[in-house]
Amino acid sequence: EPAYYSEPYRPQFHFSPEANWMNDPNGLVYQDGVYHLFYQYYPDDTVWGPMHWGHAVSKDLVRWEHKPIALYPDEHGLIFSGSAVVDSQNTSGFAKNGETPLVAIFTYHDMDGEKAGRTDFQTQGIAYTLDNGDTWTKFKGNPVIGNEGIKDFRDPKVTWHEASKRWILTLVAGDHAQFYTSPNLKDWTLTGEFGKDYGAHGGVWECPDLFPLQVDGENESKWVLIISINPGAPNGGSGTQYFIGDFDGKTFTTDQKEPKWIDYGTDNYAGVTYNNEPNGDRIFIGWMSNWQYARDTPTKKWRSSMTVPRKLTLQKIGMDYYLTNFPISGIDGLASSELTKSWEVGSSETATQTINGLDQSSIQLKTASKDFSIVYGNSLGEKVVLTLNAGRNQFLVDRSASGKIDFQEDFGNKTHVAPLQLLNGDPVEMEILLDKSSMEVFINGGLLVMTEQVFPNEPYNSITVENNDPEANVIVESIKKMESIW
Ligand code: FRU
Repeated sequence: EPAYYSEPYRPQFHFSPEANWMNDPNGLVYQDGVYHLFYQYYPDDTVWGPMHWGHAVSKDLVRWEHKPIALYPDEHGLIFSGSAVVDSQNTSGFAKNGETPLVAIFTYHDMDGEKAGRTDFQTQGIAYTLDNGDTWTKFKGNPVIGNEGIKDFRDPKVTWHEASKRWILTLVAGDHAQFYTSPNLKDWTLTGEFGKDYGAHGGVWECPDLFPLQVDGENESKWVLIISINPGAPNGGSGTQYFIGDFDGKTFTTDQKEPKWIDYGTDNYAGVTYNNEPNGDRIFIGWMSNWQYARDTPTKKWRSSMTVPRKLTLQKIGMDYYLTNFPISGIDGLASSELTKSWEVGSSETATQTINGLDQSSIQLKTASKDFSIVYGNSLGEKVVLTLNAGRNQFLVDRSASGKIDFQEDFGNKTHVAPLQLLNGDPVEMEILLDKSSMEVFINGGLLVMTEQVFPNEPYNSITVENNDPEANVIVESIKKMESIW
């Protein structure tokens, strides 16, 4: 294990950069047996700065290998978020000798233009590699989409649209999304807009994603539009909403006016999905932080990590559609030795176990209890409290006494709340992944998810189940140690 992966708070089964600042995942794409993960990266400091695309690769989305920086700022500006596609038909003409180009589509952010008070400082550019991401060439005709004065104009997501045999591009323009098409990744035509009267608008729209998904168990497929928003998330700061609707090759439509949220925790932002996934799965990775306090979290050499890769599915519940997100099965594969035997906590009982290794664990729990708390604690009395309260229709995460919280005022100042009504009063199945400084809670297969950072001064090593339901038991089926991927 390299020395730099044993620092305090360093995630052991999540991706984090070797050193310095990271934010959004970018260019998630699969080519020739390799999953690429590019990311917003500032190589010279642990706070945000002039953006590059960092790069890592994986064969299984579980274990990662760090690669050199892929994209550097140039005369058009910094390299903000975007996507990547495999141009297998060489529509771009970038391949001269039968290679398959991998093309990145990203936002240029011109700092000088911004400083000069202009509003057209974000444009879209492309770059390609013919050797699986090792060497990159920027397109000479950049930018490929100019800006007519829209201040927040960024984060292009491109995919191939088979029905129209065209590339489609979704980007955000302040308070709405725009859709473009192209035959060659270079010439783009605006074909539609969506969003002014839809969803949450507490902040700027960012990092869109658009894809079709089969409805689970039905012979029907719908289009999903993912939109990050900052600020304006349900529990403050940055969060990710989604819309379920239709896409006709030109624009997205839906009758869903209210936002739905991928994650009710405060630490899952700017998430997008893989292009070209070989098993036909829709795999999502998010940045496990929040712009409210991302630059202040108490880590030293590096800052922040990604969520575990999560598989998205579409569920029809009643007449409505919901997106679930749940760890890919490869993550389960990291759960090795049992840290304790399965454990049942009776009605109106409270029980505690001390468990070394809990700070890198996966817990599976099952219950019909309508009122219970799971408390992760340490010998300093620090704790994170997860509470399900059916009477109040809420699932709550309280990290106000979780350890270091005062590095920024918004981190620990309130309990985070998610609505429970989605679960329909069904028995609850819960999976909780704790990896040193992050907690991911998945309820009923990812119908309700909360992702939260925590910074205890000593590792959590005890778990308490407080079952306040007078009738039902809580069953902790397993607590397993998660292997380190580094
Ligand atoms: C989202 C975001 C994007 C932008 C990038 C800059 O977190 O603000 O909209 O492209 O970060 O690093």
